[in-house]
Amino acid sequence: MPWTLHRHVLYWEKPRAFMPERFLPANRDKLHRFQYLPFGAGPRTCIGATFALQEAVIALAVMMRRFRFDMTPETRPWPVQRLTTQPRGGLPLRVSAR
Ligand code: HEM
Repeated sequence: MPWTLHRHVLYWEKPRAFMPERFLPANRDKLHRFQYLPFGAGPRTCIGATFALQEAVIALAVMMRRFRFDMTPETRPWPVQRLTTQPRGGLPLRVSAR
């Protein structure tokens, strides 16, 4: 189960910490091929993975260019597992034009 695998103490240093630097190119070699499976793996792996990643980068680039997104005192990100992983209670942010 990806939720368990992605938080397993055997595979991750500080498994509950938000450390996006784990995925920097310089750290790629430290990750096992089947350690992180957001798009599944094997013969039924997600056919939209490349598109989804490209779309996400484009959407972020378009939004970040025009707006600033700041946390508020109410912003307390906490992941919950539903069909997809989502922030509990949403993710209130203050949006302002750049
Ligand atoms: C962030 C976005 C996405 C995530 C995290 C995601 C994740 C997944 C996962 C975990 C699977 C199951 C893989 C497995 O059984 O091992 C899957 C399957 C699939 N995904 Fe995605 N997906 C995403 C976006 C998309 C998009 C944009 C498309 C289509 C344009 C798509 C089309 C499919 C299809 C058709 C399957 C079934 C493949 C099969 O059973 O042969 N997905 N996806």
